[in-house]
Amino acid sequence: MAEGLQINLDRRQGEPLYQQITRQVRAKIVAGDLSPGQRLPTERSLAQKLGVHRNTIVSAYAELEADGLITSHVGRGTFVAQRELPAERPVVWSELFAQRLRRLDEAYFRELARHSSRPGVISLAGATPAPELLPTKHFTQVLQEVLRRHGQAVLEPSTREGHGPLREWIAQDLQCRGAVVGAENVVILSGNQQGLSLLAQVLLDPGDPVLVEAPTYLGGLRVLGLAEAVLWGVPMDSGGLLVDVLQELLLRRRPKLIYTQPTFQNPTGATLGRERREHLLAAAGAAAVPVVEDDPYGALYYGAPPPPALKALDRSGRVVYLGTFSKVLAPGLRIGYLVGPEPLLHQLVLARGIQDLHSNTPAQWAAAEFCAQGYLDEHLEAVRPLYRRRRDALAEALHKYLPEGQFALPEGGFNLWLEMPEGWRALDLFRLAAERGMVFVVGESCYPSGGNERCLRLNFSAQPEEVLVEAVKRLAAAARELARHGRSKETQLNTATRPIV
Ligand SMILES: Cc1ncc(COP(=O)(O)O)c(C=O)c1O
Repeated sequence: MAEGLQINLDRRQGEPLYQQITRQVRAKIVAGDLSPGQRLPTERSLAQKLGVHRNTIVSAYAELEADGLITSHVGRGTFVAQRELPAERPVVWSELFAQRLRRLDEAYFRELARHSSRPGVISLAGATPAPELLPTKHFTQVLQEVLRRHGQAVLEPSTREGHGPLREWIAQDLQCRGAVVGAENVVILSGNQQGLSLLAQVLLDPGDPVLVEAPTYLGGLRVLGLAEAVLWGVPMDSGGLLVDVLQELLLRRRPKLIYTQPTFQNPTGATLGRERREHLLAAAGAAAVPVVEDDPYGALYYGAPPPPALKALDRSGRVVYLGTFSKVLAPGLRIGYLVGPEPLLHQLVLARGIQDLHSNTPAQWAAAEFCAQGYLDEHLEAVRPLYRRRRDALAEALHKYLPEGQFALPEGGFNLWLEMPEGWRALDLFRLAAERGMVFVVGESCYPSGGNERCLRLNFSAQPEEVLVEAVKRLAAAARELARHGRSKETQLNTATRPIV
């Protein structure tokens, strides 16, 4: 019997007495201070003890009984209810996902991942370096060297900003390219993708307008979509972003930031000329808007080096530069970096401390040593002509087997953007090509809100020349079939379980 039931009533506060009793008894039952089956004081005795009218206790008990917390048996008394849990049910995870995540439509990427994993399928859908061209020998050597020379330091935590010598090397590399930056402006990240998501976290509130190229990098679109930014696509031509349109949109949409890849853009391969770069910076300057320059491919040129990075032309500190070792060294390292002004970096480093604390320490040490010993330059010099040959093999095969597709030869990077004639739909082609054992990225998925449905992104870096040729033959067979049977009416693009970069 809960004779010692302690209830404290406060007659000065507005809450009715019966509610105070209900609330306190409920709290004791929920906390387990009153256990199932335990008898509660009679209404009369509790009323007397608390100095309240019996009806007050009647009301409180009625409320607790209605909640299923107590039961009354005439002649026997009032008891804490035996709690019976409903039968166990499985968790339906999909119903628990945050709304903003549910809005991301991943169906197409799941389809792509499903086809890509089938044996024998040639994928031109990734944008990764060729596995057989990764600098395994020199990387093994530097990793062994740093471990031998620095021992446990290589396995200790890094600072949130990243490994000092690597930050130094990156700052010097950018200085050589004309940028006014120091190591204090560099934060090492777990990939450039993290830079995008940290920027979104630090700078964007839901509904904030952002200008992006149309089309642009899928991973960037996803980050911005998750941040619930409102995206305004700036059209492009073979010379990159149309800066006049950008200028107009800056005035009309007052964006929080501009996200751009001026060099060997993913997916189009387009590069912004020097003049347009200056114009872009002047327009952003007049609107006081920051520019996020995403530059994973700048060092992968197959002719003349590209124009200077926006960061190198920036004199007002508005360009936030994102670089990565994923394309030039190895994607598995997950080492990228962000270069920006100190107030932004301060905030960003706080946010990254919450996210993943710091980047992988051995990878940072090894990357720093790899660069310091000159292996990065050596590696780039070795792979540029090889990637150039792959690009040319793809272009030649397209001319030969798929002459209806139009493209501009990319001067660098990993991707070629193919445009089919009016009336074609890349998604229809994708499904037929997948049946024939080749996959690519449907261009439409790279637009912020629907776009040119005739385009395909074809990667040329990850496959040897003869495989590229075979892939194009399969694609051309799919195109012939599509031309014969016409376009399906129902196909609909839904935008991977596996990262498509
Ligand atoms: C334009 C662009 N930005 C960012 C990334 C992500 O790079 P990281 O591997 O450093 O996260 C990629 C990868 O494909 C990319 O193409």
